Amino acid sequence: LTAPMTLSNGVTILGLGYGTYQTPNEETKKAVLEALSVGYRHIDTAAVYGNEQGVGAALKESDIAREDIFVTSKLWNTERGYDATKAAFAQTIATLGVDYLDLYLIHWPANTKQFEAKDAELNAETWRAMEDLYNEGKIRAIGVSNFMPHHLDALMKTAVIKPMADQIEVHPGWPQAEAVRYNQVHDILVEVWAPLGEASALSNETIATIATKHGKTAAQVCLRWGIQQGVLPLPKSTHQERMAQNTDIFDFELTDSEMTQISALENLGGQCMVPDDVDF
Ligand code: A2P
Repeated sequence: LTAPMTLSNGVTILGLGYGTYQTPNEETKKAVLEALSVGYRHIDTAAVYGNEQGVGAALKESDIAREDIFVTSKLWNTERGYDATKAAFAQTIATLGVDYLDLYLIHWPANTKQFEAKDAELNAETWRAMEDLYNEGKIRAIGVSNFMPHHLDALMKTAVIKPMADQIEVHPGWPQAEAVRYNQVHDILVEVWAPLGEASALSNETIATIATKHGKTAAQVCLRWGIQQGVLPLPKSTHQERMAQNTDIFDFELTDSEMTQISALENLGGQCMVPDDVDF
């Protein structure tokens, strides 16, 4: 299905994953089973999505071995801090019904719009708990989500283990080139949420023209644009034919000029959530 990528600690991660944000728990088991059946082996969830139970039910019901599926979850904002992180992790693996996670991420750098000194302190304590869980072998890799370079700079002041991944919003119209570059320079894998701009990029004319040229769909072009930048897209769909379509992106290549045209697109009206501007 996908070319494997390697995290800075040597752990292999599949270069495309199935996202589950906003999939209601009741629908998640069926959606994840369908995703597994079309070949996904990398599932991304989070405690705040409320669907870890559905993901776990699908893992259990599929006849695929646990070690053949890469499972990621995320620590919710209100659970930051050393003891709270350990408790939230225990809850997450219990809800998923697994004994370990492949990747665990701090979901956001702060609980509110502001990133203050107290958030940096709280993240440092949170990270210490993540490092301990990692050293105990309960998580194969640890990382962050929605961290911009200044959030990572703050974390690195006390981190003993460097984050292995940063999951951020990237899509045509919202390339976040500086954050992508910063992560890549620091050997932090960029995972991407909303790689289709929550469908906002799919009706863009430039993308449609490029798609026609390659005999591909707009969604496939958006995902390919990510792959060719070395990021790991996590598209979501609850339709099986689209899930399958979103995996069929490894048999064509965008030209440099097509890559540049897509990277230059103005905001297409996707979510474009600036982490400093998040209102929870
Ligand atoms: P649906 O779940 O009805 O298939 P993102 O991953 O950027 O958040 O985008 C998700 C949105 O894009 C969902 O609304 C999903 O709808 C839609 N979507 C996902 N894959 C495709 C596709 N291949 N073609 C058209 N729409 C898609």
